[in-house]
Amino acid sequence: MRSLVCAQCHVEYYFKGDNKYVTFPWDKGMNADDIEKYYDTVQFADYVHKLSRTPIIKAQHPDYEVFELGIHAQRGVSCADCHMPYKSQGGIKYTDHHISSPLANINNTCQVCHREGEAVLAKNVYDRQDYVFNLRNRLEKQLAKVHLMAKFGWDNGAQETEMKPILQLIRKSQWRWDFITASHGAAFHAPIESQRVLGDGMYYAMQAEQGINDWILKRCNRQVRNA
Ligand code: HEC
Ligand code: HEC
Ligand code: HEC
Repeated sequence: MRSLVCAQCHVEYYFKGDNKYVTFPWDKGMNADDIEKYYDTVQFADYVHKLSRTPIIKAQHPDYEVFELGIHAQRGVSCADCHMPYKSQGGIKYTDHHISSPLANINNTCQVCHREGEAVLAKNVYDRQDYVFNLRNRLEKQLAKVHLMAKFGWDNGAQETEMKPILQLIRKSQWRWDFITASHGAAFHAPIESQRVLGDGMYYAMQAEQGINDWILKRCNRQVRNA
């Protein structure tokens, strides 16, 4: 309950159908791949990208879903353990409702369970954020590049059937980038899962680049033959 109370809002959802019914896309599972399968099955897109014409799934904030895949969740630690530390006043113990960064109060958050010093614990958090944000930034650049390359294809007469598999790869890549980027705290909540998802995102973006390069090569060969 001390996590589910937060999961009322800190989750992925979408507005289903014409009635815009708030729906959790969890029928096939709750990780990035399973949620993507759900959206692919119902052929959902939040919008079509203006340059590449990719049907994009926009992640909301799958904080709870990603958190659940980290070691703290797996050992039964709840959101409130870190974000709502205990206080006491007049002999009464209660949880702090001023929800903020656990690093603002390491003594009453991390150190309830860990014996390391404040600097070490803060560094543990910052190190994980650095690894994840580095990979995220690289993926971001690669994604921007393939959107532009896809536009180049369209501008130069690429056919729908040629572009479809490439746009599918861009959709997969951007979903993975967004899933982690929009999941607040993911880098610390579940660093391994975050890197797995971003790594897959990079893999799909590289494949998309390869796809467009193949198309360009094919087009050049045709022009040489026709000349
Ligand atoms: C009713 C919806 C709702 C619930 C329930 C909820 N949150 Fe939030 N939370 C939000 C929204 C919306 C924001 C962004 C607020 C903003 O940007 O001003 C937010 C922001 C935050 C932040 C960032 C705060 C900051 O100072 O930057 C943290 C941390 C957070 N929530 C943790 C939690 C935790 C932990 C729980 C459960 C104990 C929880 N939230 C329950 C909606 C909710
Ligand atoms: C083991 C401790 C721990 C648990 C458990 C935990 N968090 Fe966090 N959370 C953190 C830390 C550390 C950060 C990064 C804070 C920072 O960078 O200052 C963070 C960041 C966040 C942020 C981003 C805050 C911001 O200002 O950007 C949100 C939102 C959040 N957590 C929500 C949750 C929710 C919801 C849960 C449960 C599903 C949860 N957290 C469980 C430690 C925890
Ligand atoms: C309610 C207890 C609890 C709280 C609070 C807590 N942890 Fe943990 N932490 C654990 C447990 C349990 C593990 C898993 C260790 C194991 O099973 O050997 C763990 C694992 C870790 C690990 C190693 C796993 C990894 O992700 O690499 C780090 C680092 C860590 N915690 C840092 C923190 C920090 C920083 C905070 C405060 C923001 C914090 N913990 C808050 C209980 C807690």
